[in-house]
Amino acid sequence: MPLLTIKDLYLGYEGEAIIEGLSFSINEGDYLCIVGENGSGKTTLMKTLLGLQSPMKGEIIRGDGLKKTEIGYLPQQTIVQKDFPASVKEIVLSGCQGRAGLRPFYSKEEKALAEEKMARMGIKELKNKCYRNLSGGQQQRVLLARALMATGKILLLDEPVSGLDPKVTADMYSLIKELNNDGITIIMISHDVGAAVKYASHILHIGNSVYFGTREEYVKSDTGRLFLEERRGE
Ligand SMILES: Nc1ncnc2c1ncn2[C@@H]1O[C@H](COP(=O)(O)OP(=O)(O)OP(=O)(O)O)[C@@H](O)[C@H]1O
Ligand SMILES: [Mg+2]
Repeated sequence: MPLLTIKDLYLGYEGEAIIEGLSFSINEGDYLCIVGENGSGKTTLMKTLLGLQSPMKGEIIRGDGLKKTEIGYLPQQTIVQKDFPASVKEIVLSGCQGRAGLRPFYSKEEKALAEEKMARMGIKELKNKCYRNLSGGQQQRVLLARALMATGKILLLDEPVSGLDPKVTADMYSLIKELNNDGITIIMISHDVGAAVKYASHILHIGNSVYFGTREEYVKSDTGRLFLEERRGE
Protein backbone atom coordinates (compact mmCIF):
# COMPACT_ATOMS: atom_id res chain seq x y z
CA MET A 1 0.00 0.00 0.00
CA PRO A 2 1.34 3.49 -0.80
CA LEU A 3 2.42 5.71 2.12
CA LEU A 4 0.11 8.43 0.83
CA THR A 5 -2.72 8.21 -1.68
CA ILE A 6 -4.19 11.47 -2.94
CA LYS A 7 -7.63 11.05 -4.48
CA ASP A 8 -9.42 13.69 -6.54
CA LEU A 9 -8.22 16.54 -4.34
CA TYR A 10 -9.58 20.09 -4.68
CA LEU A 11 -7.71 22.84 -2.82
CA GLY A 12 -8.40 26.52 -2.55
CA TYR A 13 -9.42 29.43 -0.42
CA GLU A 14 -12.77 31.09 0.15
CA GLY A 15 -14.62 28.75 -2.18
CA GLU A 16 -12.19 29.39 -5.04
CA ALA A 17 -10.23 26.31 -6.21
CA ILE A 18 -6.55 26.65 -7.13
CA ILE A 19 -5.93 22.91 -7.61
CA GLU A 20 -8.67 20.70 -9.06
CA GLY A 21 -9.04 16.95 -9.22
CA LEU A 22 -5.48 16.05 -8.22
CA SER A 23 -4.70 12.34 -7.81
CA PHE A 24 -1.37 10.61 -7.23
CA SER A 25 0.34 8.30 -4.77
CA ILE A 26 3.67 8.08 -2.98
CA ASN A 27 5.34 4.83 -2.06
CA GLU A 28 7.91 4.20 0.63
CA GLY A 29 11.37 5.29 -0.55
CA ASP A 30 10.08 7.61 -3.27
CA TYR A 31 11.60 11.05 -3.77
CA LEU A 32 8.90 13.32 -5.10
CA CYS A 33 9.65 16.83 -6.28
CA ILE A 34 6.78 19.28 -6.59
CA VAL A 35 7.46 21.98 -9.16
CA GLY A 36 5.37 24.76 -10.69
CA GLU A 37 4.99 28.51 -10.97
CA ASN A 38 4.78 30.87 -7.99
CA GLY A 39 1.31 30.82 -6.48
CA SER A 40 0.30 27.55 -8.15
CA GLY A 41 -0.54 25.99 -4.78
CA LYS A 42 2.55 23.96 -3.88
CA THR A 43 2.71 25.11 -0.25
CA THR A 44 -1.06 24.78 0.07
CA LEU A 45 -0.81 21.16 -1.11
CA MET A 46 2.00 20.41 1.35
CA LYS A 47 0.06 21.90 4.27
CA THR A 48 -2.94 19.82 3.26
CA LEU A 49 -0.82 16.64 3.16
CA LEU A 50 0.30 17.51 6.70
CA GLY A 51 -3.28 17.94 7.84
CA LEU A 52 -2.73 21.63 8.68
CA GLN A 53 -5.40 22.62 6.16
CA SER A 54 -8.54 20.86 4.95
CA PRO A 55 -9.19 20.16 1.29
CA MET A 56 -12.33 21.56 -0.37
CA LYS A 57 -12.98 18.06 -1.69
CA GLY A 58 -11.16 14.75 -2.06
CA GLU A 59 -9.16 12.46 0.16
CA ILE A 60 -5.67 11.86 1.51
CA ILE A 61 -5.19 8.28 2.65
CA ARG A 62 -2.21 7.37 4.80
CA GLY A 63 -1.00 3.79 4.36
CA ASP A 64 1.65 1.47 5.86
CA GLY A 65 0.62 2.50 9.37
CA LEU A 66 1.83 6.07 8.82
CA LYS A 67 0.52 8.40 11.53
CA LYS A 68 -0.14 12.09 11.00
CA THR A 69 2.47 12.90 13.67
CA GLU A 70 5.13 10.85 11.85
CA ILE A 71 5.47 13.31 9.00
CA GLY A 72 8.52 15.58 9.32
CA TYR A 73 8.12 19.08 7.94
CA LEU A 74 10.53 21.82 6.96
CA PRO A 75 8.42 24.90 6.21
CA GLN A 76 9.13 27.53 3.59
CA GLN A 77 11.40 29.94 5.46
CA THR A 78 10.23 33.39 6.36
CA ILE A 79 12.32 36.38 7.42
CA VAL A 80 10.82 36.19 10.91
CA GLN A 81 12.04 32.60 11.31
CA LYS A 82 15.57 33.61 10.31
CA ASP A 83 15.66 35.89 13.37
CA PHE A 84 14.30 33.37 15.84
CA PRO A 85 15.96 34.05 19.22
CA ALA A 86 16.49 30.47 20.42
CA SER A 87 19.43 28.10 20.58
CA VAL A 88 19.99 25.39 17.97
CA LYS A 89 19.30 22.71 20.58
CA GLU A 90 15.97 24.29 21.54
CA ILE A 91 14.86 24.54 17.93
CA VAL A 92 15.73 20.91 17.20
CA LEU A 93 13.94 19.75 20.38
CA SER A 94 10.84 21.71 19.43
CA GLY A 95 10.41 19.19 16.59
CA CYS A 96 9.34 16.53 19.13
CA GLN A 97 6.02 15.13 18.00
CA GLY A 98 2.83 15.94 19.81
CA ARG A 99 4.09 19.18 21.30
CA ALA A 100 3.02 22.69 20.49
CA GLY A 101 5.63 25.44 20.43
CA LEU A 102 8.73 25.67 22.57
CA ARG A 103 8.55 24.09 26.02
CA PRO A 104 11.31 24.23 28.58
CA PHE A 105 11.28 20.57 29.69
CA TYR A 106 12.12 17.53 27.60
CA SER A 107 12.68 13.90 28.54
CA LYS A 108 16.06 12.16 28.50
CA GLU A 109 14.97 10.20 25.43
CA GLU A 110 13.96 13.34 23.57
CA LYS A 111 17.29 14.99 24.39
CA ALA A 112 19.20 11.90 23.20
CA LEU A 113 17.18 11.86 19.98
CA ALA A 114 18.00 15.54 19.39
CA GLU A 115 21.73 14.82 19.89
CA GLU A 116 21.49 11.99 17.37
CA LYS A 117 19.71 14.15 14.76
CA MET A 118 22.16 17.04 15.24
CA ALA A 119 25.09 14.65 14.78
CA ARG A 120 23.43 13.24 11.66
CA MET A 121 23.13 16.78 10.21
CA GLY A 122 26.70 17.72 11.21
CA ILE A 123 25.63 20.56 13.51
CA LYS A 124 26.52 19.14 16.93
CA GLU A 125 29.14 21.78 17.60
CA LEU A 126 26.57 24.51 16.94
CA LYS A 127 24.05 23.24 19.49
CA ASN A 128 24.41 26.06 22.01
CA LYS A 129 24.61 28.81 19.42
CA CYS A 130 21.79 31.19 18.72
CA TYR A 131 19.88 30.18 15.60
CA ARG A 132 19.71 33.71 14.19
CA ASN A 133 23.51 34.02 14.11
CA LEU A 134 23.96 30.99 11.85
CA SER A 135 24.52 31.02 8.10
CA GLY A 136 21.58 30.17 5.82
CA GLY A 137 22.95 26.68 5.16
CA GLN A 138 23.49 26.00 8.86
CA GLN A 139 19.96 27.20 9.60
CA GLN A 140 18.52 24.78 7.04
CA ARG A 141 20.46 21.89 8.62
CA VAL A 142 18.98 22.84 11.99
CA LEU A 143 15.49 22.81 10.49
CA LEU A 144 16.18 19.43 8.85
CA ALA A 145 17.32 18.00 12.20
CA ARG A 146 14.11 19.47 13.70
CA ALA A 147 11.97 17.82 11.01
CA LEU A 148 13.75 14.49 11.61
CA MET A 149 12.69 14.55 15.28
CA ALA A 150 9.17 13.62 14.15
CA THR A 151 10.06 10.86 11.75
CA GLY A 152 12.28 8.23 10.26
CA LYS A 153 9.70 7.68 7.54
CA ILE A 154 8.73 10.73 5.52
CA LEU A 155 9.95 14.31 5.20
CA LEU A 156 8.09 17.20 3.57
CA LEU A 157 10.46 20.00 2.56
CA ASP A 158 9.21 23.34 1.25
CA GLU A 159 12.00 24.96 -0.79
CA PRO A 160 14.84 23.80 1.47
CA VAL A 161 17.55 25.51 -0.61
CA SER A 162 16.00 28.92 -1.19
CA GLY A 163 18.50 31.69 -0.50
CA LEU A 164 21.49 29.35 -0.30
CA ASP A 165 24.59 29.75 -2.44
CA PRO A 166 25.41 27.10 -5.08
CA LYS A 167 27.95 25.22 -2.97
CA VAL A 168 25.69 25.05 0.12
CA THR A 169 22.73 24.18 -2.14
CA ALA A 170 24.67 21.22 -3.57
CA ASP A 171 25.59 20.07 -0.03
CA MET A 172 21.95 20.32 1.03
CA TYR A 173 20.79 18.29 -1.98
CA SER A 174 23.31 15.53 -1.24
CA LEU A 175 22.26 15.47 2.40
CA ILE A 176 18.60 15.07 1.37
CA LYS A 177 19.57 12.35 -1.13
CA GLU A 178 21.47 10.51 1.64
CA LEU A 179 18.36 10.59 3.83
CA ASN A 180 16.39 9.18 0.90
CA ASN A 181 19.02 6.46 0.38
CA ASP A 182 18.60 5.60 4.07
CA GLY A 183 14.94 4.83 3.29
CA ILE A 184 13.24 8.12 4.17
CA THR A 185 10.53 9.10 1.70
CA ILE A 186 11.02 12.67 0.50
CA ILE A 187 8.47 15.17 -0.78
CA MET A 188 10.22 18.38 -1.73
CA ILE A 189 8.96 21.61 -3.26
CA SER A 190 11.58 23.19 -5.46
CA HIS A 191 11.92 26.05 -7.90
CA ASP A 192 14.97 24.34 -9.29
CA VAL A 193 13.52 21.98 -11.88
CA GLY A 194 17.06 21.04 -12.98
CA ALA A 195 17.80 19.65 -9.51
CA ALA A 196 14.34 18.09 -9.39
CA VAL A 197 14.98 15.99 -12.48
CA LYS A 198 18.47 15.14 -11.19
CA TYR A 199 17.53 13.86 -7.74
CA ALA A 200 13.85 12.95 -7.68
CA SER A 201 12.28 9.61 -8.58
CA HIS A 202 8.92 11.27 -9.34
CA ILE A 203 7.79 14.75 -10.35
CA LEU A 204 4.48 16.46 -9.65
CA HIS A 205 4.05 19.59 -11.74
CA ILE A 206 1.18 21.86 -10.74
CA GLY A 207 0.01 25.06 -12.37
CA ASN A 208 -1.65 25.70 -15.71
CA SER A 209 -0.99 22.10 -16.60
CA VAL A 210 -0.78 19.31 -14.05
CA TYR A 211 1.51 16.33 -14.50
CA PHE A 212 2.50 13.42 -12.29
CA GLY A 213 4.97 10.75 -13.35
CA THR A 214 8.43 9.35 -12.92
CA ARG A 215 11.34 11.68 -13.59
CA GLU A 216 12.00 9.85 -16.87
CA GLU A 217 8.38 10.29 -17.99
CA TYR A 218 8.35 13.96 -16.95
CA VAL A 219 11.40 15.01 -18.99
CA LYS A 220 9.76 13.46 -22.06
CA SER A 221 6.33 14.99 -21.44
CA ASP A 222 5.15 18.24 -23.05
CA THR A 223 4.74 19.84 -19.60
CA GLY A 224 8.24 18.84 -18.51
CA ARG A 225 9.97 19.77 -21.77
CA LEU A 226 8.33 23.20 -21.82
CA PHE A 227 9.10 23.95 -18.18
CA LEU A 228 12.72 22.79 -18.43
CA GLU A 229 13.15 24.91 -21.54
CA GLU A 230 11.63 27.99 -19.86
CA ARG A 231 13.76 27.63 -16.76
CA ARG A 232 16.95 27.11 -18.77
CA GLY A 233 16.46 30.56 -20.24
CA GLU A 234 16.29 32.25 -16.82
N1 LIG B 1 -4.22 31.59 3.79
C1 LIG B 1 -4.55 31.96 2.56
N2 LIG B 1 -5.71 32.60 2.30
C2 LIG B 1 -6.07 32.94 1.04
N3 LIG B 1 -5.31 32.70 -0.06
C3 LIG B 1 -4.14 32.08 0.14
C4 LIG B 1 -3.69 31.66 1.45
N4 LIG B 1 -2.49 31.06 1.33
C5 LIG B 1 -2.18 31.09 0.02
N5 LIG B 1 -3.16 31.69 -0.70
C6 LIG B 1 -3.19 31.87 -2.17
O1 LIG B 1 -3.23 30.60 -2.79
C7 LIG B 1 -2.39 30.54 -3.92
C8 LIG B 1 -1.37 29.45 -3.77
O2 LIG B 1 -0.46 29.79 -2.71
P1 LIG B 1 0.75 28.82 -2.30
O3 LIG B 1 1.48 29.49 -1.19
O4 LIG B 1 0.21 27.47 -2.06
O5 LIG B 1 1.61 28.83 -3.65
P2 LIG B 1 3.06 28.26 -3.96
O6 LIG B 1 2.95 27.41 -5.18
O7 LIG B 1 3.64 27.62 -2.74
O8 LIG B 1 3.88 29.60 -4.32
P3 LIG B 1 5.44 29.95 -4.14
O9 LIG B 1 6.16 29.25 -5.25
O10 LIG B 1 5.47 31.43 -4.31
O11 LIG B 1 5.86 29.52 -2.78
C9 LIG B 1 -1.79 31.94 -4.05
O12 LIG B 1 -2.54 32.66 -4.99
C10 LIG B 1 -1.93 32.53 -2.67
O13 LIG B 1 -2.04 33.92 -2.72
MG1 LIG C 1 5.27 28.05 -1.54
